[in-house]
Amino acid sequence: MAEERERWTSRTSFIMASIGAAIGLGNVWRFPYIAYANGGGAFLVPFFFALFTAGIPLMILEYALGRKMQAGAPTAFAKIGKNLEWIGWLALFAVMLIFAYYPVIMSWCWNYMLYSIRLDWGADANSFFYKNFLQLTDGPGDLGGIRWPILVGLAISWLAIFLILYKGVRIVGKVVIYTVTIPWIILVIMLIRGLTLPGALEGVNYYLTPDFKALLRPGVWLAAYGQVFFSLSLGMGTLIVYSSYLSPRSDIANNAFITSLGDAGTSFFAGFGVFSVVGYLAQAMNVGVPEVTTSGVSLAFVTYPTAIKLLPFWASLFGFLFFLLLLTLGIDSFFSQVEPFVAGFTDKWRFRKETVLIFVTVFGFLAGVVFTTRGGFYWLDIIDYYTCSFGLTLVAILESITIGYVYKTWRLREYINDVSEFRVGRWWDITIMVILPLILGVTFILELVRLVRHGYGDYPTWASLLGALVLVLLIILSLILMKIKGREVE
Ligand code: PHE
Repeated sequence: MAEERERWTSRTSFIMASIGAAIGLGNVWRFPYIAYANGGGAFLVPFFFALFTAGIPLMILEYALGRKMQAGAPTAFAKIGKNLEWIGWLALFAVMLIFAYYPVIMSWCWNYMLYSIRLDWGADANSFFYKNFLQLTDGPGDLGGIRWPILVGLAISWLAIFLILYKGVRIVGKVVIYTVTIPWIILVIMLIRGLTLPGALEGVNYYLTPDFKALLRPGVWLAAYGQVFFSLSLGMGTLIVYSSYLSPRSDIANNAFITSLGDAGTSFFAGFGVFSVVGYLAQAMNVGVPEVTTSGVSLAFVTYPTAIKLLPFWASLFGFLFFLLLLTLGIDSFFSQVEPFVAGFTDKWRFRKETVLIFVTVFGFLAGVVFTTRGGFYWLDIIDYYTCSFGLTLVAILESITIGYVYKTWRLREYINDVSEFRVGRWWDITIMVILPLILGVTFILELVRLVRHGYGDYPTWASLLGALVLVLLIILSLILMKIKGREVE
């Protein structure tokens, strides 16, 4: 079967594709807002902690698993144990939830790209975003009809993905060289503008000053782990399937380090740009940094436009380019979400890849429609929270337990060390077997208890419950898919 698989043309194209999958809206849109919502500097400690205790070890694990099993997540787990296949499906459903809303954020970017031409948001980017652009309703119970410009952007995103994936994995490696490097240059420009604004330092201070009291809140830790998984594309089958396209004897450990550190570095860097503008806004509005906005999800769409408008020259051009480049960052992440899903089905059943792709495109688009309504913003926030804080962390716990206790870490580590440029030590076994499941398991349960007591955010209880229900249904669906007979796993 191995000879049927597509292959990366070179090591660089694999690394670039993994980095392309990792670096995306998660770094420039999600990281800053999660950091902001979790107390700014309070967040950085758990974030880096999570990177080293879960992000990097798990990335090594997923790369090795995909390389070794030469299959997408469900089949890879089925090869470890017949009854474990559902873990792979669960990973794919987690990514499915993400690819339902991810292109909606991209759609916001499409729209903002056009708004940039005339700098339509004016002096108050915050109220422009909510009132003019989203036309937000009062709560998640009131969907308030579709916002057509957002729906059109969603359709464009899906069309682009369909065309790219139709061409197969090889082209991915080529496109990403540009989509990763150019946005970085623009980010630097935004940072310089941000930092030279009055009040910027207040914002940066808030970003960098740790608040050790916040470390007592399990939610902050869970958010940090969730963010690391989201950003590194872990717990979703993406890296498993990408590394299954690697040819034998390709390095694993070094690739994992390069990808994770590159990704975390980008997030950290993007944070400076966003927080300096938040500092500026706080000063202009005469409020403290934490009071600048109540909902973090909107943060990037308030701060970046504000900074763009304040550029001394060529503001429109920069604005246009900035959102265009945000889109190029997003697009390779987006197709890395769809690809594992398609591979999951074609690995197990002999479907044609094109058929599955059409199905996923239509279905994914339809699933995204709810987020394009006037109340869709609330749902995006709720689903994003459940998926990352609970969905991805659950998959991560299950993965580490499976490898730790069923497959055995030392076996996988021997394999890794056989092909890698440097050896992975016993620390890896200990992290996967003990540290990761323990910390994640405890924070998971503590946050769950808090959630049951107080719900999520200010939303009505039924809305938070609906988010949890989606997750439970997907677990059941994973079990059902496992039971349906497919191709024999050897
Ligand atoms: N890591 C991507 C980002 O930061 C998002 C992503 C999620 C990619 C899931 C693949 C799978 O934008």
